[in-house]
Amino acid sequence: LSKVSDQITKVLVTEEQINEKVAELAAELDKKYADKDVLLVGVLKGAVMFMADLSRAMQIPVQMDWMAVSSYGSGTVSSGVVRILKDLDADVLGRHVVIVEDIIDSGLTLSWLVGNLEARGAASVEVVALLRKPAAAKVEVNVGLVGFDIPNEFVVGYGLDYAERYRTLKGVAVLSPAVYS
Ligand code: PRP
Ligand code: MN
Ligand code: MG
Repeated sequence: LSKVSDQITKVLVTEEQINEKVAELAAELDKKYADKDVLLVGVLKGAVMFMADLSRAMQIPVQMDWMAVSSYGSGTVSSGVVRILKDLDADVLGRHVVIVEDIIDSGLTLSWLVGNLEARGAASVEVVALLRKPAAAKVEVNVGLVGFDIPNEFVVGYGLDYAERYRTLKGVAVLSPAVYS
């Protein structure tokens, strides 16, 4: 196997930029949800790193729960078919839910998820996403907080994968097309 550094064309967001942004987003959430009962819902598996860092950067007490939904499979193009692979353990009725996502690509996963959690009777449902690709949007998602708007390129790292690889990179990088073509 060739080195990972040979498989990426450029680093789009560095570890330092991520750390700084996570701290800012955490401070925003602390302000918004002071005195509220917050349930952070992380979307497996991509949001694992962001959830871990964001939740620990927050000062207010929060609970964490997880959902696994899939829209990509092992390809690079979102299929639009959202499947629940693992549901929440918590009941969201009457609770303030903050969905924690690594990336909004087509928006199909999140628009579906927001509707799903609202239908369960959450008091509020807000989205915080580290990355967003405005040029790839197929549906409008009402996102509360976004870390970085990025170009419409296939990116990996900090939780984001290609065929389950590259999730543990510390920054977000553009994957070389040679890897998947
Ligand atoms: C990726 C990503 C988001 C979603 C965004 O997850 O982590 O959850 O796709 O795509 P969309 O806006 O077009 O719906 P994926 O389905 O690859 O699962 P994973 O998080 O386990 O990698
Ligand atoms: Mn995901
Ligand atoms: Mg994926």
